[in-house]
Amino acid sequence: MGLIAFSTAAVAQSDYPARSITAIVPFAAGGPTDTVARIVTTHMSSTLGQQIIIENVVGSGGTTAALRATRALPDGYTIIIGHMGTHGAAVALYPNLAYNPISDFEPIGMAAGMAVLILARKDLPAASLAEFIAGARSGAAPLNMAHAGLGSVSFASCLLFNAVTDIHPLLTPFQGTGPAMNALVAGRVDYMCDQIVSAVPRLQAGIVTAYAIGGEHRSPILPDVPTAAEAGLPQFQVSAWNALFAPKATSPQIVARLNAALGKALDNPAIRKQLLDLGGDIPDNDGRSPQALAALVRSEIDRWMPLKSANVPPR
Ligand code: MLT
Repeated sequence: MGLIAFSTAAVAQSDYPARSITAIVPFAAGGPTDTVARIVTTHMSSTLGQQIIIENVVGSGGTTAALRATRALPDGYTIIIGHMGTHGAAVALYPNLAYNPISDFEPIGMAAGMAVLILARKDLPAASLAEFIAGARSGAAPLNMAHAGLGSVSFASCLLFNAVTDIHPLLTPFQGTGPAMNALVAGRVDYMCDQIVSAVPRLQAGIVTAYAIGGEHRSPILPDVPTAAEAGLPQFQVSAWNALFAPKATSPQIVARLNAALGKALDNPAIRKQLLDLGGDIPDNDGRSPQALAALVRSEIDRWMPLKSANVPPR
């Protein structure tokens, strides 16, 4: 029996993929995670010869989807686009997180690094980050901050921002920063921290304001947006990333097939242009391996652990 079982598994791996693959996106369509997922999986589909179908599974800051992915069969036909929130900050933000970002997944590879910006509705009177912070501290009515749920990048990033600036907004959750951005553009919320791929089109259209980018350098796509340090807030050092994961026990051969297809997408000039034009950072070969992603997840969990006490921002 063992020999038959072995040969069945071997055939399944050698034929992989024999049918379409589901790629779970833990947030609503239109946000940064959905954007990155659709860009890279479109090209991966052509490499693998099978459709990769995006399934937006929302809720609980992306952790609902992550848990769903851990329960999928480890056959290579379900993957998830996780990120600094679902596979990093969520561990600190959820005392009883129902999954372990390290032991419950097989890392496939990094799709794109992602700066995080402090964004505000266009008609907010503050002309700079300093004015925004001063106004937030002195205003009678608290500001309204949008986010994509506990455990999301937008939540963790702005939790850090609020901690280091000592401002205490009202929090408005959305199923992703796609809908949150629509609310910001409409002026229904006052600010949020979002990943650059979502901010770039709105900033280029002049329909939202960016006060700062949380990184060491300005983005070449947004040369007029100062770094948080230039804007007087050096403590706001935040960057995000979006990466592909499979359920634990997905075979190394299948992980390697998916990693190779991801690498081909990231080497494709048209795909690179799409990601770079949106401010994404494309990992080099060393940064694309499953091992590099596993190390990043471990370090990100540690980096955000101080949030557990919610008043000591990560270094
Ligand atoms: C987040 O973590 O805030 C999400 O990436 C937002 C999104 O992709 O919709």
